[in-house]
Parts: sequence; C-alpha cells; structure tokens
Amino acid sequence: MRLLVCGGAGFIGSTFARQRLREHGDEVTVLDKLTYAGREESLQDLVGDPGFRFIRGAIEDPDAVAGAIDAARPDAIVNFAAETHVDRSIAEPDAFVATHALGTYVLLEAARAHRGTSRSGGRAGEHGLRYVQVSTDEVYGSIEQGTFTEESPLAPSSPYSATKAGADLLVQSYFHTYRLPALICRGSNNYGPYQYPEKLIPLMILNALHGDSLPVYGDGMQVRNWIHSTDFAAAIGHVLEHGREGEVYNAGGPDEEANMTVVRRIVELTGASDSQIEHVTDRPGHDRRYSLSSEKVRALGWSPRVRFSEGLEQTVAWYRDNRWWWEPIRSGEYRAYYERQYGRALS
Ligand code: NAD
Ligand code: TYD
Repeated sequence: MRLLVCGGAGFIGSTFARQRLREHGDEVTVLDKLTYAGREESLQDLVGDPGFRFIRGAIEDPDAVAGAIDAARPDAIVNFAAETHVDRSIAEPDAFVATHALGTYVLLEAARAHRGTSRSGGRAGEHGLRYVQVSTDEVYGSIEQGTFTEESPLAPSSPYSATKAGADLLVQSYFHTYRLPALICRGSNNYGPYQYPEKLIPLMILNALHGDSLPVYGDGMQVRNWIHSTDFAAAIGHVLEHGREGEVYNAGGPDEEANMTVVRRIVELTGASDSQIEHVTDRPGHDRRYSLSSEKVRALGWSPRVRFSEGLEQTVAWYRDNRWWWEPIRSGEYRAYYERQYGRALS
C-alpha cells in the first residue's frame, strides 16, 4: 500500500511509519509540520529507504496537503498530526483548535477530492482512498469504574480531548454525508521509545536518571491504561486493513496502573531514590481514570503483545541507551517549558 502518514515525525507516527515500511512493505510518505514535538531524528533510520519520503508541511495548509498527495499518490491517509499534551492545552489551547479542527477538515477535504485516485494497490485501496483518524480514549472523559466501549458517549474534559473529540465528529460526518471511507482508531495512554519527555513516563525516566525531582500531580492515584506504542501502531494498521468504513475502534493496553506505581517502578529500574518523588499541585480538571475495552478491534484479529512491566523495563533501557535522541531536547527550549510548568529548573 502507499500511505500518507500525517504527523509521522512524532512518537507514535514514527513508530507506525517504521512498522509499515519494514514489516508490511508499504510505501510511506510522512507529512509533518515539525512542531516542538516533531523530530526528523525519530525517522533517521528510514531515510534512504526507497519506500520512504519526508515532506515538511502543516495539515491545515491545503497547498502542502495537495502537494503531499500528489507526491505520495496514497491508497490511504493516516492522520496522527496533533498537539498532544494536556498540560500545554490548558496553558495555550490555540494550536489545539487549529490543528485538530482546521487541520482535520483540510485533510478530509483533500481525501474527498482524491477519493477516486488511489492506485488500489492494497486491500484498503479497493474502496478508494481510505482515511484513518488516530484518536484517544480521552474523548470519553474519565471513568471511575468499568471500561469505555465505542458506544460510550463523548465527554471530553480538557481542551486537548475536546478538540480531538471535535475532529472525530467531523470525520464521522464525512462518512455519513459524503460516504468518505473514513475510520477512527482510539488508543489508550502510549509509552515506548521516541516519546517527547513532557509526558509522564519519559519525563520521570529522564528526571530519575539526572537526579531531578519526580513531580507527581496530586495524590498520584490517577489510573491510566498503558499500551506500548508498537501495539497501538499495529492496531491502527489492523484498522486500516481490516476495519469497516464509518466505524470507530478502541485499542487499549493490557494493563492499568496508578501513576504512583509507575513512578515507583521507574525509581527501581533507574536506581534513583524514593526521596526524588515530590507531590506537586494537581492538574486542573485532572481525569481520574481512563479504561478502554478493545473487544471490537480484537475481533478483527489484533491483540496487544507487550505487558506493561516488560515494556517499561525496555523503555527505560532505550532512554538510557539513546542519549543522542533526548539530549538536544533536554538542553533546548524544553528547559524553559519545564520551568514554566513546574516552577523549577532542571539540573
Ligand atoms: P506527538 O506529539 O509525539 O507527535 C505529533 C506529531 O504531529 C509531531 O510530529 C508534530 O510535529 C506533528 N504535528 C502537530 N501539528 C501538526 C500540523 N498542524 N500539521 C502537521 N503535523 C503536525 O504525538 P503522539 O503521542 O505521537 O500522538 C499521535 C496521535 O496519537 C495524536 O493524534 C494523539 O492524539 C494520538 N494518541 C496519542 C496517545 C499518547 O499516549 N501519546 C494516546 C492515544 C492517542
Ligand atoms: P500524561 O503523560 O500527560 O498523559 P495524559 O494526561 O494524556 O494521561 O500524564 C499521565 C498521567 O500522569 C496523568 O494522570 C497526569 C500525570 N502526570 C504527573 O503526575 N506528573 C507529570 O509531570 C506529568 C507530565 C503527568
């Protein structure tokens, strides 16, 4: 298949691009704006592969999108492009609205204009250009008990999740109104290599390794449903190849953990000290628990492979062994972000 992967220089998008190119023999064109979170370094092992192409551009820019489609001549567009950090959405929501609302609209319009032009090289292409929107469990809001299914109502609580939910609704409207062959895949909290260290797990790993404090929001008893990024990438690929048009598929990880459990385990794995753990002011509107049922995508033949304990150990080892990837981040603009967010400097 020929794929246009929007936001493919980010954490999950780069994992998906690598997986499709290496394990499925797809041709992959990445379109990415390279925001602070987008990094060509995350794709550097793919550069030079004849099946890989990188284009810098924004999904809200119709010319950039049209150019990327002309270059890629895709059977499918998979959209990962997003602003993804809840704390940043609370401080500065503007970019979340622009990328999720306008960006998704521009991509959907482009998909509509090109629906008849796919090369029909793969199974997905048989129905014309497919569109897969990558989304999140956060659109369902918080759940104290039980688990969300695809039928659960949308009740997002942050500007991040509200704009992601809006994008999902727009995608569904293009299926209902124009019969655009669109699908949505919603994942739970991802972790693994190449994740920007503003998120809980890489932030705690790098702070632990540097002897910095480990800032736990509130009581740290919030629960997240962790999925390894290779498992989520595989679920998205599965939905792309086998999903039914117009449908939503949830892909949750095999394990749920409280934040404090995750942080304590990172302390153990890095040889840091419990005294580095510090409870700090809670995030406003903090969702208590996320939990996702994946029965529907499991019925398509997908299941997660990586248990959290083993995946976390591998992730700690990856950050320990790949200073080249995170050192430029930790010594750059990220320091200023960290000071604004946490009111203290990194070592
Ligand atoms: P990320 O922040 O690591 O990467 C986002 C990528 O999108 C970056 O490369 C960035 O440069 C690019 N981008 C941002 N705005 C853009 C724009 N306007 N035009 C083009 N490119 C743009 O994010 P991630 O964690 O890899 O998340 C990818 C997708 O998966 C997102 O849609 C997110 O909502 C979803 N998701 C993430 C998680 C998670 O835990 N990280 C869980 C479920 C779903
Ligand atoms: P995060 O990685 O930001 O993902 P999300 O908010 O999308 O779930 O946060 C995961 C959990 O960790 C969430 O409950 C907030 C918490 N957290 C902290 O306690 N301290 C931190 O410094 C960060 C970044 C997150």
